[in-house]
Amino acid sequence: MSGVTGGKAGSWSDRFEQGLHPAIERFNASIGFDITLLQQDLDGSIAHARMLASTGVLTADEAEQLVAGLEQVRAEAAAGQFNPGLEDEDVHFAVERRLIALLGPLGKKLHTGRSRNDQVGTDLRLWLRGQIDAIDAAIVRFERALLAQAEAHAEVMIPGYTHLQRAQPIGLAHHLLAYVEMAERDRARLRDLRKRVNICPLGAAALAGTPVPIDRRHTAAALGFDDVYANSLDAVSDRDFAVEFSAAASLVMVHLSRLSEEVILWASEEFGFVSLTDRCATGSSLMPQKKNPDVPELVRGKCGRVFGHLQGLLVMIKGLPLAYNKDFQEDKEALFDTVRTTLDCLEAMAILFEEGLTFRPERLEQAVASDFSNATDVADYLVAKGVPFREAYQLVGGLVKGCLQEGILLRQLPLERWQQLHPAFEADIFAAIEPRQVVAARRSEGGTAFEQVRLQLDRAQARLRD
Ligand code: ARG
Repeated sequence: MSGVTGGKAGSWSDRFEQGLHPAIERFNASIGFDITLLQQDLDGSIAHARMLASTGVLTADEAEQLVAGLEQVRAEAAAGQFNPGLEDEDVHFAVERRLIALLGPLGKKLHTGRSRNDQVGTDLRLWLRGQIDAIDAAIVRFERALLAQAEAHAEVMIPGYTHLQRAQPIGLAHHLLAYVEMAERDRARLRDLRKRVNICPLGAAALAGTPVPIDRRHTAAALGFDDVYANSLDAVSDRDFAVEFSAAASLVMVHLSRLSEEVILWASEEFGFVSLTDRCATGSSLMPQKKNPDVPELVRGKCGRVFGHLQGLLVMIKGLPLAYNKDFQEDKEALFDTVRTTLDCLEAMAILFEEGLTFRPERLEQAVASDFSNATDVADYLVAKGVPFREAYQLVGGLVKGCLQEGILLRQLPLERWQQLHPAFEADIFAAIEPRQVVAARRSEGGTAFEQVRLQLDRAQARLRD
């Protein structure tokens, strides 16, 4: 027996005389992965049955029997007793077939006024909507982990880089808060695209609508959709929401990957800004001294599959004529893997910042005090005394060159040397080029001055409280 009708020739109708070639049955089936949509398929069918009763297509009693049968399938699945096979083709057929086995001829009424084309689109949107909410919660946890580290190191400085060359010292909290901003944009993007996920295609049927008296607003409301698709062809052939979601997830991964790259650098002997705790680091099978940053490396590496799924979806969709095409079956594994990977990476990065690394303030302190990243502040000092910036810039360039030749730092120059360079220098130059003063001086809005960072921190905390 095969397929939803139990006919020997497959799931469809008496038009088919022969069963599928076994290899083609395997090739065609999506049950191996779309069983993920079981709960949403049951929810959608329950809403559909009740709607059919509301418009008089089914009696109230028939609808309630169908609902009871569908709930029985849910219970069987929870008990591990619903295990469809390849012959069921996909989750939609599998549920319908079980319903018919449970209820007899009444089970055959469920699919009235509906097609798998609008059904699968409904299931997928319901599922993705829930996953978007789960990803939002995972981003919030990650942000909290960053904020806790930022709070704990509100006074600590770190070298700021451009071109991966020491540029100017900054607050460590300021650096971490940059990632909180990215995460907030990710959340905003997901919130926005969720609106377009939450539109109901049910009732488009195969492609053109249905002569059966249905009430699309009824099912849409029952399933928590905000609206219904206006055009039945668009309803069954739109996968824009899958692309939008994959693009947003790709950006989440880009942000996690950039942070991962920094942690990998920071954990190296060369930087030494963090040490990895045993909770998130692994050893080498060969070199006993090693502690490897596997977590950020894996996050960085997993970007490939998520970006790949985005590309895969775009290519899969681009040549499809209206309306439904079986190509769409390929959207599921891409979305499932994108969601799984994004959630896993967000969780791993949250744990990394919660308990997987410790910053090394003594190393950071030493790093910001042992370079020329205060050179801009010497120029700014002269500018404050009325020297044109470009002239000051030239003077300081020569000074840095001289220091490099002598192997000394700016703060090691005696006052006479400063004054030889320009009479405007006074003894307060030494305070002006202390790293803490260099950071504190950058009070422009959004700058790294401690009180500006305090404002950022407070705003970020408040945002997460709402
Ligand atoms: N398994 C199919 C999918 O994932 C369900 C829709 C099938 N519709 C059809 N006309 N064959 O897209």
